[in-house]
Amino acid sequence: MCGIVGILGNHEVSPMILDALRRLEYRGYDSAGIATVNDGVLDRRRAVGKLINLSDLLVHEPLPGRSGIGHTRWATHGGPTVANAHPHRAGRVAVVHNGIIENFRALREELTADGAQFDSETDTETIVQLTSQYLDQGMAPVQAARATLARLDGAFALAFLFEGEQDMIICARRGSPLCIGHGDGEMYLGSDAIALAELTDRITYLEEGDWAILTRAGAQVFDAEGQQTSRAVTRINVESARVDKSGHKHFMAKEMAEQPAVLKAAMGYYSGLDHSGIDLPEALDFKGIDRLILVACGTGFYACQVAKYWFEKLAGLPVELDIASEFRYREPVLGPQNMAIFVSQSGETADTLAALRHAKPHVGQVVSVVNVPTSSIARESTVALPIHAGPEIGVASTKAFTASLQVLALLALRAGHDRGHLSDEEFNRLINDLRSVPGYVAQALDREEEIRRMTESLAQARDVLFLGRGTMYPLAMEGALKLKEISYIHAEAYAAGELKHGPIALIEQDLPVFIFAPFDALFEKTISNMQEVMARQGKVFLVSDAKGLAEAGDVPHRLQMPTVPDLIAPIVYAVPAQLIAYHAALHRGTDVDQPRNLAKSVTVE
Ligand code: M6R
Repeated sequence: MCGIVGILGNHEVSPMILDALRRLEYRGYDSAGIATVNDGVLDRRRAVGKLINLSDLLVHEPLPGRSGIGHTRWATHGGPTVANAHPHRAGRVAVVHNGIIENFRALREELTADGAQFDSETDTETIVQLTSQYLDQGMAPVQAARATLARLDGAFALAFLFEGEQDMIICARRGSPLCIGHGDGEMYLGSDAIALAELTDRITYLEEGDWAILTRAGAQVFDAEGQQTSRAVTRINVESARVDKSGHKHFMAKEMAEQPAVLKAAMGYYSGLDHSGIDLPEALDFKGIDRLILVACGTGFYACQVAKYWFEKLAGLPVELDIASEFRYREPVLGPQNMAIFVSQSGETADTLAALRHAKPHVGQVVSVVNVPTSSIARESTVALPIHAGPEIGVASTKAFTASLQVLALLALRAGHDRGHLSDEEFNRLINDLRSVPGYVAQALDREEEIRRMTESLAQARDVLFLGRGTMYPLAMEGALKLKEISYIHAEAYAAGELKHGPIALIEQDLPVFIFAPFDALFEKTISNMQEVMARQGKVFLVSDAKGLAEAGDVPHRLQMPTVPDLIAPIVYAVPAQLIAYHAALHRGTDVDQPRNLAKSVTVE
């Protein structure tokens, strides 16, 4: 987490850095800061909270200079205070950092013993103290930065700015993403290309272990062994990297509304222009595998959990499912006939990336389903399948969830067909079902006003339960996660049949219980569980289709969904799960796009 920016410009850089940080604020908003070099003098401004506070500070205390670095923070070591805000500075050097320095305690002890005075509780300050010590020993900035990098353990993206150096930023990437932007007589640096989209469309993605010296004339890049190397300059689609709310109140609202178009585009991308079948990379081999391993975090994990049902049912493939942060630590048994699929919107989630790196030497195929095609997870997979959802800025993942589901469904169908589990006829029918997703998702979005009214009473709720069976169980978990993260209401999800094994003790008068139950093979069983809740005066909200609502009898709070084929129900029912959380958050007045304590891209373990 945390976003970093660097600019060697031809104009004042503070406003440019602020603007770039605005596009990185999704990575953290506990504090923000900028350092510049002006007439050789290094200076900085830092403010706690969102970027607007730094922006206000700069009005009263401007920070001149044509070279500078900036940071937006998600706190790891040390609370959100000015002292802990980046850029950190010691003597003649300032640093911004994304990641964690794992050996910072040992370094801090060593530096303190040598007389260094620490101003913050952060791991980052050890970096500047170390560099400052090397400068004091007579090293030149490049040498001092190199010597510092050699002492650091952990994951990081870093930028160094030095007093007296108006035309130089040194940056390094180990574990956290970093890219360089090429301008006309200007050079830029950012945690992602979106940050630089208003400045340039020419981007160099640094590789793992790279470090670089930026001057206005260009970038000299060195690999992990210290050899000068060349990294490609790629052109990015600046339009698609631009982010705005397009008239919506929140990014989350915009991203939910985009789903029909996103799903249509993703389907078009993978089913070929002639719509004849599935156009997935030939390299994917489902015939030669004996097991599938699905790994992700958060919402991506729930997408995997839905996909487990699909792969087992449609392709007869044994599936193992893991939360990325647990995967490598439980010593999973892996083999060459396993395919591992990693799902990640950002493609930079540290836990998922670490899980991928753990699996890669042992499994036959490493596949990723990602939204950012240039991300580390995409680049380190043997086959990367982009979901083509476009930038997702709201911290709560919405369109990336449904688009990932769509790509995972395509994979399950392809696996089922390749393995002879699905006949041509079944395969074609299911592909057609998948093609109908955008239309049904649009219909589900049309229920927004009903959902808004339905969720008014949630403003006072302290706890909420979500129940579902089959693929509606992970959907219930997704609904509970969304509600927790943006409305701060405590929410739990259970497989409906599990309720009676303990959680039913939670049911009391007026406890809101959302039940996702399309009229499918499991409907009757879910409805029995719903009756158990109603018998204990729980306040049931049933989300079902016309037949389901008619069969369910007298349920006070009901939401009618379109009648959809079983395969696509979890994609369509994701919409009410999102809208329930969104409107509950609006009723409570929380910060929908930037909920407390969270960041969009979690690049620390
Ligand atoms: O970028 P990723 O998909 O790897 O992120 C994984 C989770 O951090 C993410 O899904 C998180 O749970 C969302 N905020 C949920 O809305």
